[in-house]
Amino acid sequence: MSSWTSQIKDYTFLVTGSAGFIGYHLSRALLAAGAQVVGLDNFNDYYSPALKRDRDRQLRDFPGFTSIEGDLVDLAGLESLFAAHQPQKICNLAAQAGVRYSLVNPFSYQKANLEGFLNLLEVAKRSGVERFVYASSSSIYGGLTELPFSEEQRVDTPISLYAATKRANELMAHSYTHLFGLPTVGLRYFTVYGPWGRPDMALWLFTAAMLQGKPIKVFNYGRMQRDFSYIDDIIQGTMAALMVPDLAPYEIINLGNHRSEELTQVIALLEQELGVGAQKEMLPIQPGDVPATFADIRRAQEKLGFQPTTPIATGIPRFIQWYKEYHGLTPASAT
Ligand SMILES: NC(=O)c1ccc[n+]([C@@H]2O[C@H](COP(=O)([O-])OP(=O)(O)OC[C@H]3O[C@@H](n4cnc5c(N)ncnc54)[C@H](O)[C@@H]3O)[C@@H](O)[C@H]2O)c1
Repeated sequence: MSSWTSQIKDYTFLVTGSAGFIGYHLSRALLAAGAQVVGLDNFNDYYSPALKRDRDRQLRDFPGFTSIEGDLVDLAGLESLFAAHQPQKICNLAAQAGVRYSLVNPFSYQKANLEGFLNLLEVAKRSGVERFVYASSSSIYGGLTELPFSEEQRVDTPISLYAATKRANELMAHSYTHLFGLPTVGLRYFTVYGPWGRPDMALWLFTAAMLQGKPIKVFNYGRMQRDFSYIDDIIQGTMAALMVPDLAPYEIINLGNHRSEELTQVIALLEQELGVGAQKEMLPIQPGDVPATFADIRRAQEKLGFQPTTPIATGIPRFIQWYKEYHGLTPASAT
């Protein structure tokens, strides 16, 4: 147990995107450690709002949880939230996620990721929060080919609007740290997966299609590599980013598993675990997608004590077990 773990209970956290995949897990872990958590989410329909409601319902079982249905773009709403709850630490996970969708609906990225992010920075600045942690993304490394991706690399060439908004967040945070002394930490997450995951991501899409005997779309003819990061490891790193005492006022930190997996290997593991063969529809790479990601995690290890411990051979079966239980495809386990 880390030295800061016992201090979590002394804080009120604002977790935005608390009904989302990572926000749900983070809120749950903070609540389990005794914190007060104010969760903000607009329950939008980018993917199943019912799944978001189910996550939110789980969190409501904790007496320390306050669920607020609201939008980052509503500045007055954020102001009253801060006045009422006075969170000392923020983790901003609410965003329009997804690379491919940013080609279809760019304005939803502008709203949530730029306007919403600025609103939160403003309110955080005025209320003098202790730390503002926010989700950036591995996608900001764009088409760089030098692996693993390190925070030292220049990242001025995003290849999707999603990535551009995430890089913009890092730059906006820098200006607020510089001008107003707001302590900020940007976490560059690498392909996070696990129970209660996201239905628009490959692992879920593949699992759903394979269980229904439908074909799966395999982009770049399978020559894709991703640093698949298990949710529990990512939550450990995110909690450390919120809690460790000695961070610089402005930080950017990769959070990944530090293993780059071939997509074909992931599919083979799914076939083995699901007991069905995948019907693969081989397709070219999608515009905006990067062929490979791989996180250099030395900074996270040094500054956050980050130590991911879950390989896909452990994490994917856990996801599948949850997926089947959630969809009533298997009797619920006793745990
Ligand atoms: N999951 C990953 O692999 C991954 C990788 C890199 C970065 N990220 C980033 O991490 C964060 C969390 O990702 P996730 O996978 O949990 O996504 P998610 O879509 O499951 O969660 C985001 C939540 O934010 C809410 N939201 C969106 N816009 C909002 C707004 N304007 N106001 C209030 N709520 C709003 C959504 O309803 C959703 O519940 C996002 O910023 C995402 O871009 C995720």
